[in-house]
Amino acid sequence: MEKLLDHQVALITGASSGIGSGVAQALANAGAAVVLNYHSHGEAAEALADKIGKAGGRAIAVQADVADPAQVEKMFDACRKHFESVDIVIANSGVQKDNAFTDMTLDDWKAVLATNLTGQFLTTQAAVKEFRRRGPRPVSKALGKIICMSSVHELIPWGGHVNYAASKGGIQMFMKSLAQEVAPERIRVNSIAPGAIRTPINKDAWDTEAALEKLLKLIPYGRMGETEDIGKAAVWLASDESDYVVGTTLFVDGGMTLYPGFADNG
Ligand code: BGC
Repeated sequence: MEKLLDHQVALITGASSGIGSGVAQALANAGAAVVLNYHSHGEAAEALADKIGKAGGRAIAVQADVADPAQVEKMFDACRKHFESVDIVIANSGVQKDNAFTDMTLDDWKAVLATNLTGQFLTTQAAVKEFRRRGPRPVSKALGKIICMSSVHELIPWGGHVNYAASKGGIQMFMKSLAQEVAPERIRVNSIAPGAIRTPINKDAWDTEAALEKLLKLIPYGRMGETEDIGKAAVWLASDESDYVVGTTLFVDGGMTLYPGFADNG
C-alpha cells in the first residue's frame, strides 16, 4: 500500500531522544527514509536506526553539532551519499539551560541560542541550498519542506527560562521570514509548536504526582502530549496533504495557549 511519504528522504536533527525521536519514527512509518542526526547519544540514535531497519524502513544515524557549519555540511553530505538528496528537513535540536535571570550565565545564554536558533539557521540554510541543487523531484509537489521545531514558548512568556523563550520567540519570526523568502521556489517552511510533551527535557514537570497535577492545570485538554502527537502533525505538515500550508505555526499543545487561567473569568 502506498504510504504518504514513500520515496522521500527526511533529515531530523536531534533525533536520538524526545520529540526528534518520535518524529523520526513517525516519518519512517509513513514511508520516508530517515537520516537521524544526534549530538551526543550515538547508541540511542543507532538503536532507533536499527529498529526502523528491522521494521523494513531505511535509516542511518549521523553525528553533528548543528551549531557548527562544517558539521552541518557533513550531515547533508550523508543525506546525499546514502539517499541522493533530502526532501524533508526537521530542524528539531533544542536544549534548555534554565535559571533565574540574574543567575543565568553568559555560557548558558549562548549555548541555548547556539543550538536552538543558530542551529536552525544553519540547518535550514543548508536545506534550501540542497533543494535548489537537486531541483524538483516527482515525489512531492514542493521542491522541499522544512519544519522548524518551535514551542508554545514562542508565544507564552517563561520566567526562569529567558534564554529558551528568546530562542523560540526568535524561531517565530525566523520561520515566517524564511517562508516568505523561499515560497516562490515552492519550498514550504512551517513550524510545529509543541506544548508539554512527555520527554526527558521536562521530566521534573511530570515525574511526580504533585508536579503532574500542577502541570495539568495548564492544559485544558487534560492530558500531557506524547511524542506520537507531534509525529502525526509532522507527517501531515511534511506531506502533500498540507501543500497549501506555508509559513504557519501549528500548535500541538492540548490548548495550553488558550490562557486556561481565564476559563473561570480570571
Ligand atoms: C519545553 C518543555 C515544557 C513545554 C511547556 C517546551 O518547549 O521544552 O520543558 O514542558 O514547553 O511549557
